[in-house]
Amino acid sequence: MDFKGKSIISIRDLSRKQILRILEVAGALEQNPKPELLKGRVMATLFFEPSTRTRLSFESAMERLGGKVIGFADANISSTRKGESLRDTVKTVENYSDVIAMRHPLEGTARLASESVSIPVLNGGDGANQHPTQTLLDLYTIMKTQGKLDRLKVAMVGDLKYGRTVHSLAIALTLFGCQMYFVAPDSLKMPPYITEELKEKGIRYSEHGEIEEVIDKVNILYMTRIQKERFPDPSEYEKVKNVYVLKKDMLTNAKGNLRILHPLPRVNEIATEVDNTPYAVYFEQARNGIFVRQALLALVLGAVK
Ligand code: CP
Repeated sequence: MDFKGKSIISIRDLSRKQILRILEVAGALEQNPKPELLKGRVMATLFFEPSTRTRLSFESAMERLGGKVIGFADANISSTRKGESLRDTVKTVENYSDVIAMRHPLEGTARLASESVSIPVLNGGDGANQHPTQTLLDLYTIMKTQGKLDRLKVAMVGDLKYGRTVHSLAIALTLFGCQMYFVAPDSLKMPPYITEELKEKGIRYSEHGEIEEVIDKVNILYMTRIQKERFPDPSEYEKVKNVYVLKKDMLTNAKGNLRILHPLPRVNEIATEVDNTPYAVYFEQARNGIFVRQALLALVLGAVK
């Protein structure tokens, strides 16, 4: 299995076997840090949209493997501001770096970037489309907390229309025969292009309006933020912004092995009183981003096979 030179744009770019290999390398790097593995290599982080976890964990991952980081966290300080196209930006940046990690508000831009350069591009989120590296760290977290990925019951709650993390995760979980429960208001349901794919693959899923309908059935409760920035009409956001708030007393009948994940940032969809329960693993999940992104960088740069 050779990842060298490979871009990761969609979770669909990876087979089950490749995903398990990435998680295996992540586990090895967590257990046995390699501070010189990527010495002499340079990663460019090109973030055209705000980020805390994705950008900083990519940068931390690279630095902790001995590599260097260049880039920008705000397109307004790049030549995009002067009208430069994304294609010209990445074709320039490939001269300065060995790998690009990028985020952009427009769907399809990471693919466009990967087709414009000859170095690997890692998609850190393109609009409401895909966030494959988040999905890999979600899977790593699920594996660590459940001891397996196969045939779990996974609920996804919140903004399933605009939330790119749930789009990538739902597709990934089809490779592991998981049963999915989608909890969303009517206006934010999982898009038909995802549910049609689940039907074609014979994956069991159901749609719900309330968290209480699923909380006692599932192993994983994947909460998401309502994606305010993607609503064309702000008044539509106002109608749904507080639709789900997970509180401690809602967990009374939860399975003992229930774990609550959230890609973060959180607004108010999980009350802070939940943070200290044994169910909450979202900060551990954010930490796991380091190991998974280290694994991806090491694999696509050919430092690990
Ligand atoms: N989970 C995630 O993508 O977080 P950031 O937006 O902070 O990168």
